[in-house]
Amino acid sequence: MNLSPAAPPPKNDKSAYVRDMFATIAPRYDRTNRVISAGMDEGWRKRAIALLRAPAGGSIIDLCCGTGDIVFHLLRTDPTLRVTGVDFCEPMLAQARARSVREGGGSTEFLEGDVMALPFADKTFDGATMGFAMRNVAGIDATLREVRRVLKPGARFVNLDMSKAPNPAWKACFDLYFYGIVPLIGGIVSGSRAAYTYLPNSLTHHPGAEALRDRFTDAGFTNAAFVRLMGGAVAIHYGDAS
Ligand SMILES: C[S@@+](CC[C@H](N)C(=O)[O-])C[C@H]1O[C@@H](n2cnc3c(N)ncnc32)[C@H](O)[C@@H]1O
Repeated sequence: MNLSPAAPPPKNDKSAYVRDMFATIAPRYDRTNRVISAGMDEGWRKRAIALLRAPAGGSIIDLCCGTGDIVFHLLRTDPTLRVTGVDFCEPMLAQARARSVREGGGSTEFLEGDVMALPFADKTFDGATMGFAMRNVAGIDATLREVRRVLKPGARFVNLDMSKAPNPAWKACFDLYFYGIVPLIGGIVSGSRAAYTYLPNSLTHHPGAEALRDRFTDAGFTNAAFVRLMGGAVAIHYGDAS
């Protein structure tokens, strides 16, 4: 079992690498997530959505929407919301659009786009969400600035992602699972061992919870804060656009 962190893909190649990887696992992405998180990812998404405080009838953008998990949770929570999902991986979006037909829709739209250069005017949205993706973007600060740009003043951005547990003993246990077991299980369920080796390793080069909160502030968010889940192995960061 190799627990040593792999080097991240070169920065300028990261977007292409990530897009190709998600294209490969798109058809089995949802099932693999449920298995490797033992179904807990659904509860984490609900916690994140509760922190959004989305206004009834509001227009929400879900960044890096993938197959639409957060989009559909948002609509189940409040069917009056209008939700736009953006992702740069077309096969993931195809899964989201198919789910939209199966799950009866609501007001959803799924668009291909890069979250570091969003195709929307300033101050368009009443809220923004992002799930399990900040580790995957090529530029965290560029993404944060771009989210803030498209939010109306006072609108909130909520980011749910894996994080680094502060307790060393718990972190060691969790790392054993995340770096050692996830590639095995993820490889079997998704059919791509490479993808589920990259995904845990993407956490290695991700900032800790406090540093990410400070980067929200640096990007112009006010009231930046975070909530730890699973003893800090998962975190929800949020901040309000100024
Ligand atoms: C781990 S998946 C998360 C999907 C979904 N948010 C969820 O909660 O299950 C990460 C997603 O981020 C997308 N992604 C990564 N970088 C992106 C970027 N710069 N612009 C748009 N999408 C991006 C990938 O295509 C992938 O669908």
